[in-house]
Amino acid sequence: MIDLRSDVKSQPTPEMRRAMAEAEVGDDAAGEDPTVRRLEELAAEATGKPAAVFVTSGTQGNLTSLLALTRPGEELIADEQAHVLHFEGGGCARIAGLLPRTLKGERGCLDPKDVAAAISEGSVIRGRTGVVVLENTHNGAGGIAVEPERMKAVVEVAWGRGVRVHLDGARIFNASVALGRPVTDFTQWCDTVTFCFSKSLGAPCGSVVCGPADVIAQARKARRMLGGSMRQSGHLAAPAIVAMETMVDRLVEDHRHAREIAETLATLPGVEVDLASVQTNMVYMKLLREDMTDGDFAAAMGRRGVLTGGAHPTPRVFRFVTYHNIDDAATANACEAFREVLGEHAC
Ligand SMILES: Cc1ncc(COP(=O)(O)O)c(C=O)c1O
Repeated sequence: MIDLRSDVKSQPTPEMRRAMAEAEVGDDAAGEDPTVRRLEELAAEATGKPAAVFVTSGTQGNLTSLLALTRPGEELIADEQAHVLHFEGGGCARIAGLLPRTLKGERGCLDPKDVAAAISEGSVIRGRTGVVVLENTHNGAGGIAVEPERMKAVVEVAWGRGVRVHLDGARIFNASVALGRPVTDFTQWCDTVTFCFSKSLGAPCGSVVCGPADVIAQARKARRMLGGSMRQSGHLAAPAIVAMETMVDRLVEDHRHAREIAETLATLPGVEVDLASVQTNMVYMKLLREDMTDGDFAAAMGRRGVLTGGAHPTPRVFRFVTYHNIDDAATANACEAFREVLGEHAC
């Protein structure tokens, strides 16, 4: 099957599997795992931050960051489509005790004027703003790569008012490759950043939080509290090191494949694709056909060997994601399946 549901479906490469088996390990909860330490150094260096902590997932990375940066009762400002608000079990509210203040972003980024107006200094009746969360690439906005200059405009407002910024950079390497800018061009505009090894970088699991040493020390405590301090986790860090060393430059291929899928869909009747938002490894498609339910479409694609999942998360809207296992042939086959299912005379 050609699985376009998400880049989290990516399979580890043979080199990753070897690295897992051969990793030198220790008790990471006691800071004794050399492979985890090496990964944390690499991640800190890549993001230009002084320190880093390896966490189990992007969700845990975002939550540990929020716990490290804020206090319960404070407010969190984020785009209304932010992953941290919609797909992370409500942890920001339930565990970190933050009140979300959502803003409508434009092409994946908040408007600095809106952020300025939304920031609260805190009073008897309202909590202060504890954090602004940015996301890049912005998943809900179509996988858009937000230019560092747009991030800067927002972050300067936040920092100017004493509010810290967390970047959900689950796919920050996709943003970097898409815009041809170093990762540090983006990560200079945040206090903490989470990125994931397990998505387009292809490692089996794990994410990292990078930031100032004192904040990362707090994040380590939060990770412990959340049950995320593991033991011989060098076995998981080792493939993540391979991911950082071998999987970044090739992201350009995933972006090319996503573009090929989007351009194919754009030629077909009864669907809507915003080509301008197809900048990285994601394609969002709206199904307009009255004669085809979301289930009909997914089933027809499935019969032709392509897994699309159900509408995601809005009815009628599907997301297709490319990653290293979706090669040239798989992309061509997927495009052929789209043509067969959605083409003029298809039913
Ligand atoms: C933008 C973004 N942030 C965070 C996450 C959460 O990552 P995880 O699934 O590893 O918890 C995801 C997952 O897809 C994501 O797309």
